[in-house]
Amino acid sequence: MLRFPATFLFGTATAATQIEGGCTASDWFAFAKQPGRIKHGDRPDTACDGWIRWPEDVALQRTLGFGAYRLSVEWARIEPRPGEIDRAALETYRRMLGALRDAGIEPMVTLHHFTLPLWLAERGGVLADAFAERLGRFARVAVDSLGDLCRLWITINEPNVLAAHAYSLGVWPPAEKSLLRALRAHYSLLEAHVAAYRVLKEARGDQALVGVAHHLRIAEPERAGRRGDRAAARAFAYVFNDAFAAATCEGRMYGALDSAVRSASGFRVADARGTQDFFGVNYYSRDVVRLSLRHAAELFIARAVPAGAEVSDLGWEVYPQGLGLLVRRWADRSGLPVYVTENGIADATDSKRGPFIVRHLSELARAIADGVPVRGYFHWSLLDNFEWAEGYWPRFGLVEVDYATQERRPRDSARLYGRIARERAVEPLSS
Ligand code: FCB
Repeated sequence: MLRFPATFLFGTATAATQIEGGCTASDWFAFAKQPGRIKHGDRPDTACDGWIRWPEDVALQRTLGFGAYRLSVEWARIEPRPGEIDRAALETYRRMLGALRDAGIEPMVTLHHFTLPLWLAERGGVLADAFAERLGRFARVAVDSLGDLCRLWITINEPNVLAAHAYSLGVWPPAEKSLLRALRAHYSLLEAHVAAYRVLKEARGDQALVGVAHHLRIAEPERAGRRGDRAAARAFAYVFNDAFAAATCEGRMYGALDSAVRSASGFRVADARGTQDFFGVNYYSRDVVRLSLRHAAELFIARAVPAGAEVSDLGWEVYPQGLGLLVRRWADRSGLPVYVTENGIADATDSKRGPFIVRHLSELARAIADGVPVRGYFHWSLLDNFEWAEGYWPRFGLVEVDYATQERRPRDSARLYGRIARERAVEPLSS
């Protein structure tokens, strides 16, 4: 058996838009109404009805034995019009956090998980002049109302994924295809993270631990003997994976470009250095990468899954070693404690999720035994949910959701994970 320390958090993760339903004031609510944006025309209008059913979901976590829960607060719900704060919405989040704590479940709150109030999106969203200041103000509202109930905070979820999907691949709002604007979004999100970090720390000092949920992938050259593929893998690893994370650790993002960043607030990339109390890792998969002239919009980088690899329903490779590698690498590079803020698998039949959890947790247990300060693991996701442009078909939940009735049905993997959490130990698989 591989054992975990007494303070290690075994949690699950969700995000507001993906489960809550009923938030009509967000950019995703509007985006999903546009034909062709979301698979099967799915919309997040009801999702898991979590805004109403959250007490049941807290009770479920408790019964299953999970000890921590990462959720996000929906900015569009709290500030539906500029400067207008919905106190009743904040009160609901307060009750949610209170109920979690009463159930012995440690909350982790994300301020920004991909979505924006529509009014802000219409003013330029992440690229709006005052974006960082606005997120800072929102952080102030959130921490003033919820700060006494929450110790762990994420400022921004996966800034690299957001910049890529929204501004260069054009598949998320505002659906632009411009590498330049993706780059600007990256810088703007960095500035906003720093603004939110400062607000949270000013408000709560050491009582708030603040980080970013960095989406990190493993990138390997498709043909190790080809210089082009090696360069493409390095470029992908740097531009997509490492740049933002490096900026929060070392105050440098894209080398010489950093000094060209001009912000009305006087922000400099160097200011981002040291703006995390922990390092959050969202880890899903590995890419093999090759140089491809047909992928100009993606910096000539083509990604694929290794032939014969085990994959999820979404075709993502299952590669647990990658998690061990990444927590070691970034604990070392950042000098910070690490939380795995997301890790999970789309697996409708639940045949792969159990072994997936065991293999990824085994990697963490081994890293911890080697002295790597990994403090917690949040499985994505507690519930099946609205998977952005994919809609509802991918099933990431430990708990199955019947969208017709909103019935929750824990899968076998939920019971397995609960047992691991209670025993604080995992029995490694032989392969
Ligand atoms: C991550 C997102 C999360 C969810 C999972 C599957 O990139 O942060 O919202 O969609 O992927």
